[in-house]
Amino acid sequence: MNHFLDIHKTDKSALRGIIDDAKAIKTARAGRPKAAPDDELPLKDRMVALIFEKPSTRTRVSFDVGVRQMGGQTMVLSGSDMQLGHGETIADTARVLSRYVDMIMIRTFDEAVLEEMSEHATVPVINGLTDRSHPCQIMADVLTFEEHRGAIADRKVVWCGDGNNVCASFLHAAGQFGFDLTFTGPVQLDPEMEFVGFARNAGRTVTIERDPFKAVEGADLVVADTWVSMHDAQSAKERRHNMLRPYQVNDRLMQAAGKDALFMHCLPAHRGEEVTSEVMDGPQSVIWDEAENRLHAQKAIMRWCLEG
Ligand code: CP
Ligand code: NVA
Repeated sequence: MNHFLDIHKTDKSALRGIIDDAKAIKTARAGRPKAAPDDELPLKDRMVALIFEKPSTRTRVSFDVGVRQMGGQTMVLSGSDMQLGHGETIADTARVLSRYVDMIMIRTFDEAVLEEMSEHATVPVINGLTDRSHPCQIMADVLTFEEHRGAIADRKVVWCGDGNNVCASFLHAAGQFGFDLTFTGPVQLDPEMEFVGFARNAGRTVTIERDPFKAVEGADLVVADTWVSMHDAQSAKERRHNMLRPYQVNDRLMQAAGKDALFMHCLPAHRGEEVTSEVMDGPQSVIWDEAENRLHAQKAIMRWCLEG
């Protein structure tokens, strides 16, 4: 059985297979809004539980639609409505759910919850975001980059802002897909050394550059994310904004990156904060493709989980 827990915990060749499968799934749809009538139905007669302990638009809708297009059904559960939110252990929840459903996707806070779920579930478990990673997002981002620019290997990705969970998954992907990453942000919000070390140990160049204009020189891709993540205390908002303001992705920064650099953001974005509307709606932005590609990437991830 295959769990999809994190990019650095998934075999390199499996990751490449998932991206190629996602490309094929998307091509087969030929731009149609709905599933192709001849779509395979690998989830026929299967039930997938989608558990959310944090809010979501893209993850919730793209998984729900993806499961249905693959012939399955979904059950969307909020952690606080389950006994899980009232003292039942994660291990017991995993054992019970495995008797009812064929796959579990969970968005949670502590990554230990995801790990415990996967240790005790007898069905595949997928990470729909934790405080420390967001692997489904980065699979969609790799797919999006390759659609627009070809192979991501040996390219330069620049992360602007907070070295958060999405940044961590980008560092994992740098190691696994073989690209280099420059982080530009305040020292207080550097990504954890564990994530940087993973990419470096895989032979990739990870650069920390405090000057955002220097950082983006020669970038193939510039990425931003919210300055205050769902797991961050709201009381830290003002302090974070003050530290992060110099790292806003705006027209001036994209000009420094060069006209061939793409712009990505996992969304939801805060227009006028981490990124300006000019950049989000401008010619270098591929954010809507990126959001769409969550659907295709996750269908490929679910197929891979079932193959195991
Ligand atoms: N990018 C992303 O995961 O969005 P949601 O929080 O809306 O799911
Ligand atoms: N870093 C953000 C990503 C949201 C998809 C958060 O964790 O809130």
